[in-house]
Amino acid sequence: MLPATGEPFLKAEGVHHAYPGPGGPIPSLRGVTLTVARGEWVAVAGPNGSGKSTLARILGGLTAWDAGQVWVGGEPLTPGRPPLRPRVGLVFQDPESQVVGSTVEEDVAFGPENLGLPPEEIERRVAAAVEAVGLAGLRRRPTRQLSGGQRQRLAVAGALAMEPDALVLDEPTSMLDPRGRREVLAAVLGLVRRRRLAVLWTTHLLDEALLAHRLLVLSRGRVVADGAPAALLASHGDLLEGWGLRAPALIRLAEGLRQAGVAVPEQASTVEAVAGAVARAWRSRLRGRVP
Ligand SMILES: Nc1ncnc2c1ncn2[C@@H]1O[C@H](COP(=O)(O)OP(=O)(O)OP(=O)(O)O)[C@@H](O)[C@H]1O
Ligand SMILES: [Mg+2]
Repeated sequence: MLPATGEPFLKAEGVHHAYPGPGGPIPSLRGVTLTVARGEWVAVAGPNGSGKSTLARILGGLTAWDAGQVWVGGEPLTPGRPPLRPRVGLVFQDPESQVVGSTVEEDVAFGPENLGLPPEEIERRVAAAVEAVGLAGLRRRPTRQLSGGQRQRLAVAGALAMEPDALVLDEPTSMLDPRGRREVLAAVLGLVRRRRLAVLWTTHLLDEALLAHRLLVLSRGRVVADGAPAALLASHGDLLEGWGLRAPALIRLAEGLRQAGVAVPEQASTVEAVAGAVARAWRSRLRGRVP
């Protein structure tokens, strides 16, 4: 994927957060530091309870934190005070709970209407947002007739209609089937590339994280690894189980091939790259046999 450029758009430094519990505070984030630049897709992977949703809500201005600093577009956020002009669009896990309109276009128009924008501007935003997520052909479709993947893309369109500079998506595919996952991943990938949005995407599936520019692993509220996904997974394979994560199928295959003597580069993150390594090994073995 294209490398991201520029200053960090989302930035967190040493963020701590705890929920009140009957026996005292329950820590959820213990000093999280991260950056996401425009045009960069950062995957935050962690098992249940690692703090993904808490982090997403903090970056989206919905949840106050206890210590540390958060910046959006260079401006510091104040804990407990939502930003005046939200520059971060939030998308959550549940495709059902985010739909408010009875048709696709009504749903996408909901946010811009609440801003009191003139009808031509609302129409411009709705048209651009549905186009960006591949729902332009379904504008008049009743929302109850949408598939899970279409609903999640609708949620992304609703966020886009507010013209954010960043998207924070909290496990947007965890309730979808493989096709729905692919639809949502493709839509967001297009936004990162074409609109250069800053994207933070949480997941417990490392297969998805392979597509991102960078992977952060969250374990018990701490960032325990941060780097290019394929190289990080190749070099930290033995730690994944302890973090409660499972290596992507492609990385497990690459590891198996390396053990069988095939030179698969550590940064190989696509089927094509792994297949290329197998083809090279195969050709060189054939050459070894043919006099
Ligand atoms: N409302 C709450 N009250 C008390 N504790 C909470 C609350 N919400 C989350 N927690 C605790 O905070 C920690 C982090 O939770 P969070 O929901 O951010 O994790 P997560 O990575 O999103 O998990 P999941 O994969 O299940 O969505 C967990 O220990 C969780 O039990
Ligand atoms: Mg969560």
